[in-house]
Amino acid sequence: MSHLVSNPEEYFCQFVSTRSNLLLELENTAKQEEIPIIGPVMGDLLYILARVSQANRILELGTAIGYSTLFLGSACAESGGSVTTLESNPGLAQRARENCIRAALDSHIQVINQDALEAMDRMPGQEFDLAFLDIDKIYYGQVLDKVNPLLRKGGMLIVDNTGFKEADGFNQKINSDPEWMQIQLYSFLPLHSPQWDGLCLAMRN
Ligand SMILES: C[S@@+](CC[C@H](N)C(=O)[O-])C[C@H]1O[C@@H](n2cnc3c(N)ncnc32)[C@H](O)[C@@H]1O
Repeated sequence: MSHLVSNPEEYFCQFVSTRSNLLLELENTAKQEEIPIIGPVMGDLLYILARVSQANRILELGTAIGYSTLFLGSACAESGGSVTTLESNPGLAQRARENCIRAALDSHIQVINQDALEAMDRMPGQEFDLAFLDIDKIYYGQVLDKVNPLLRKGGMLIVDNTGFKEADGFNQKINSDPEWMQIQLYSFLPLHSPQWDGLCLAMRN
C-alpha cells in the first residue's frame, strides 16, 4: 500500500501561496496572451533561494512582462540589492519596466532590452551572486560559458525548463563540467508552463 496521498497534483495545489493583485493580474495577462511565466510556486522558490543565499546582485535572463523579476526584486530589496534582467523583445521589456514601477521595485531592478548573449559579453568585471536562466532553451548551452565568469564562486545558477528536449545539450554540458555542481529536479509546479517540468539548481565551484 502506498503511503502517498492518492492525488498528489490536486493535493499540492492547496499549498500554492496567495499573491498580490499585481501578480494575479500578470498571471491573467500571461494566460490570455500565452506568455510563458514561471508561476507562483517557482516564484516563491526564487524568492526563498535568493533570500536564504543572501543574494544581493542577481542576473535574470528572460524577463517577459517581469513576473519572475518581481519575486527576485522583492527578495533583494530586503537587503538593498538589485536585479539586472535581460529581455530581447522591446515591447515586453517596456511592459516589465512599468510593472516594476507599479510594484515600487524599480529602484532595485534594471530591465535591459538586449539579446542576453550579447549583453553578457558587455558585462566584464561585473559579479553576481545568483543567476536565473529562462530564455529560449536552444541558447542554454551558450549561456553556460558566458554566465560562468559573471557568477561568483559559490554563486547559484537556477535554470527553468530543463525538461524541454532543447535543454538536453545544456543538461549534458553542466553535468560533465567540473566548474559546476548541479542537481536536476523533475517537479510538479502548479500554474507553471508546463506544470510538470525539470528545474536545475547549480553552484559554481
Ligand atoms: C519564458 S519567457 C520569460 C518568463 C519570465 N522569466 C517569467 O517567468 O515571468 C522567455 C523570455 O525570454 C526572451 N528571450 C528569448 N531569447 C532571448 C535572448 N536570447 N535574449 C534575451 N531574451 C530572450 C523572450 O522574449 C521571452 O520574453
